[in-house]
Amino acid sequence: MKIIIINGPNLNLLGVREPDIYGHETFEEFFAYLQQEFPTVTLHYFQSNHEGLLIDKIQETGFSYDGIVLNAGAFTHTSLAIADAISAIRTPVIEVHISNVFAREAFRHHSWLSPNCEGCIIGLGLKGYELAIRYFL
Ligand code: DQA
Repeated sequence: MKIIIINGPNLNLLGVREPDIYGHETFEEFFAYLQQEFPTVTLHYFQSNHEGLLIDKIQETGFSYDGIVLNAGAFTHTSLAIADAISAIRTPVIEVHISNVFAREAFRHHSWLSPNCEGCIIGLGLKGYELAIRYFL
């Protein structure tokens, strides 16, 4: 089973960025936990602040991986190009958001990506990534 977690802009700052919203743990720490938790899964991680690089990674993994766990950050609310990339591939995508975007500003309530994803896990903190992997398993 091959799964990739793809994180979008500003998610490289987890642990530092608005910890009251996103928590105190860095993604690297959490990823080490996930690797321990899922020893039989080939688990990869990619983060970029650049829309095109996220699309390149979705295309690159979208025909050979068993699952993509995607938190596109603010691109969720703006990017038709990422939505199209999700439609273009065969690998199922689970959309994850750490915070409950529906409890925040109105501009975070709409996702261009959700209709093209297999499902969404929203507002459960970093646990959402773990639940998405369990779903693929
Ligand atoms: C986020 C929610 C987005 O609205 C925001 O732009 C992010 C993080 C989340 O994981 O809660 O960067 O995707």
